[in-house]
Amino acid sequence: PSLEQPYRTAFHFQPPKNWMGDPNGLMYHNGIYHLFYQYNPYSPTGSFFNMTWGHSVSYDLVNWIHLEPALNTDKPYDAKGCWSGSTTLLSEENPVILYTGVDNEGIQTQNLAWPKNLSDPFLREWVKSPQNPLMSPIDDIDPEYFRDPTTAWKGPDGKWRVLVGNQMNGHGQAFLYTSEDFVRWTRSKNPFYSSNNTLMWECPDFYPVSINSKYGVDTSSQEKFTRHVLKASINLIFHDYYILGNYSAETDHFSVDTDFKGDASDLRYDYGKFYASKTFFDSPKKRRVLWGWVNESDTVSGDIKKGWSGLQAIPRSILLSENQKQLIQWPIKEIEKLRKKKVSFTDKELKGGSVLRVPDITASQADVEVSFDLRSLTEAELMDTSWNDPQLLCSQNTASVRGKVGPFGLLVSASMGLKEQTAVFFRVFRSSHGKHVVLMCTDQSRSSLRKVLDKTTYGAFMDVDPIHEKISLRTLIDHSIIESFGGEGRSCITARVYPELAIGDEAELYAFNNGTLDVYISSLNAWSMKKAHLVSAKEEASQQ
Ligand code: FRU
Repeated sequence: PSLEQPYRTAFHFQPPKNWMGDPNGLMYHNGIYHLFYQYNPYSPTGSFFNMTWGHSVSYDLVNWIHLEPALNTDKPYDAKGCWSGSTTLLSEENPVILYTGVDNEGIQTQNLAWPKNLSDPFLREWVKSPQNPLMSPIDDIDPEYFRDPTTAWKGPDGKWRVLVGNQMNGHGQAFLYTSEDFVRWTRSKNPFYSSNNTLMWECPDFYPVSINSKYGVDTSSQEKFTRHVLKASINLIFHDYYILGNYSAETDHFSVDTDFKGDASDLRYDYGKFYASKTFFDSPKKRRVLWGWVNESDTVSGDIKKGWSGLQAIPRSILLSENQKQLIQWPIKEIEKLRKKKVSFTDKELKGGSVLRVPDITASQADVEVSFDLRSLTEAELMDTSWNDPQLLCSQNTASVRGKVGPFGLLVSASMGLKEQTAVFFRVFRSSHGKHVVLMCTDQSRSSLRKVLDKTTYGAFMDVDPIHEKISLRTLIDHSIIESFGGEGRSCITARVYPELAIGDEAELYAFNNGTLDVYISSLNAWSMKKAHLVSAKEEASQQ
């Protein structure tokens, strides 16, 4: 970030310029993390017919070295794009890429590539298989809706399995392909899973989560105490939804708790901007890590002016909740290395209608943790049972609409005098049967004096009982991105903002309570954040 580039980030992943989309092929290999991503090397706009696989490597998932694209559009079957896909470790030593190629006619096929030289620790060059394409849209497959292979997993019969996203008769589904040698693939008769309530599934992801430990599970693991997550990025709706179920590797049957419903009750990784995400198993740390693409909320001309578009969210470790009803996400621990000066206080009363400034912090580049204690819940407003869409509820009840218990939370990326502000906040309602409903919102309506931006207000319900627990919030603020984790990672909302006044040193941070009832900040810790090192391989070499 600088005066000319106030919206570039300090600790989020982004290439030096141009368009970045989906994270692809994440993996850990011989001490190094690899991130590939949909990258248009020619322009900051998403012309999908130029997509290559951008490639960067890291020792810690925080600092990155940018390399040349790993896959370019140089074969007939990928002349119009090397689209999304995944890596699979055939053994600890041997990674391969499966990706979607788009040819001159727009026909999509799945293709294989492997590292040219396994002794290059960065795996800079990749060779495409002479046998490509390996999976083609034959029979009843629509050639324009056949893409984004998952990481493959090995079943008890020793065969590899992979899912490919698809749309058939207007609804989303995934095909299962199996193979003994990773080259000859057979499609199973029936779709692996399909849902009438969704459109095309882009970037499907399928992986086990542990039910009795805090560790992540390898994609091919045959551990017993697991459940499986199926995630689909729904084309045109632009959200990442998931369902939970039990998978049998013997029968390849996936029996789900509940299908995608196609309404506001579906589970999402993130209730703001977060798309085409993908997980990988980080073997040395025994955790599963989630990456997601966060696109711009600016106009195309705004993107062209900046010269870049697209961020990756901070990698999140992902676990099943104790009640097994949802996933829990938390920014990877390594990001805390960037914390520097800390400001903190405890036990502060936040009177109804008040604002409290958090001093001495670089509020445009910060990590904030706060927890609220609510002592007068009996007077909370009554919840109407027809209020089942949290985003709608937050849009109707923005931060400036007074309530009783809430809105309370943080005002981030705020200008002195609060002309510009983005509110991340909660409201608590009482339901008719004596329980409480906690609503989490990110209200961007006043985030910038500029008018043409997408300032949608986002919302999520949060599975927290405020009688027994404090309401906690962690927010990562990085110039133009605000990533919020409510209830220790139970509800996440990511937003993009482009303030005109609240940039650089001019940005401020506040806690606020616009309810009529008092709330208490039991603790607040806010850290100014250092900048991560993102350098080209050349710069890296000259610094050594
Ligand atoms: C998702 C997506 C994928 C496709 C890629 C192209 O954002 O549309 O389905 O492979 O992006 O860049």
